[in-house]
Amino acid sequence: MLHSSMVQFWQPQLSWQRLQHPTLGRQQPEIWICQLETGSNAVSGNKILKLRYTLELALQQKKAGVFTFGGAFSNHLAAVAEACQRLGLTSTAYVRTDKLDSNNPTLAYCAKRGMTLIALDRSSYRQRNDTDFLAQLQQRHPQLMAVPEGGSSLVGAAGIGDINFANTPAGTAGLVCCATASGGTLAGLITNPLMPVDTKVLGLSVVKDSSLPQRIMQLLPAQCSTRQWQLNGDFIGAGYARFDTELLNFCRDMAQQQVFVEPVYTGKALYALVQLVAQQKLSARRISFFHTGGLQGLQGLHYRKLITAADLALLSGSKAD
Ligand SMILES: Cc1ncc(COP(=O)(O)O)c(C=O)c1O
Repeated sequence: MLHSSMVQFWQPQLSWQRLQHPTLGRQQPEIWICQLETGSNAVSGNKILKLRYTLELALQQKKAGVFTFGGAFSNHLAAVAEACQRLGLTSTAYVRTDKLDSNNPTLAYCAKRGMTLIALDRSSYRQRNDTDFLAQLQQRHPQLMAVPEGGSSLVGAAGIGDINFANTPAGTAGLVCCATASGGTLAGLITNPLMPVDTKVLGLSVVKDSSLPQRIMQLLPAQCSTRQWQLNGDFIGAGYARFDTELLNFCRDMAQQQVFVEPVYTGKALYALVQLVAQQKLSARRISFFHTGGLQGLQGLHYRKLITAADLALLSGSKAD
């Protein structure tokens, strides 16, 4: 059982928005955007679902906290820092960077919530899933539970199964989509027990990673029934976290409609979905798009001068910190 004072925090409010876009004609399928609000930007979207059982396990096992992995602007690290602080757990992060930058808004956010940050150069970071490397870290942190990058474990994916993402206000969706990076969210949709078996699932990749399909398969428990799924990598563009003016303009258009997305995850994936619909590549008449959060990342894009202050304000609504 979760600590009673945390119940509010762990019960996200679900909201649905119908997407309107000039590319989508009248005959096109409906696209519904599903959002999860918790009152915390960092722990919204897929983060709250991937972390809820993971951190509950740490509490049950009477761990002092967790250690995990992420990039210097990682949404996952921000979420872990905040969730652990709220639950009275400690948090430690191995950050993919040569040198920790205390002005980096994501790392500053994490540090403010008590997270211990440890720099890991790129080649060491590549070992983050290796058994021997993890065993060494576990020896270094005997009181902490290891949480993989992105919170993408079997337990993390199980949390995605708590909500019926196909249940739009207009009826059942034949297809549920989400942005895909480490694969835990997609794995959780594939095995989600609340969604109809014939609802299909589509992961819109935001990273170039040929091992992704195999990693997703590893996150599907053997005894679980699975639904039909696909990964689409046609709209990754120049790579993870890279975006062009067309994509940024799309995010700006969305913000004008009160749909707040950023160009690294949700904006890139929603853009991909709109293009696939326009190209008539999807057969479902009603589509659900799981908004996986991540607006805290806009601060980091602004910090690196990849978006302007005006874009930061526009794309985040009031939600970037
Ligand atoms: C905002 C956002 N959307 C989507 C994803 C992708 O989720 P997953 O890593 O479970 O594939 C992430 C995490 O990396 C994220 O931060």
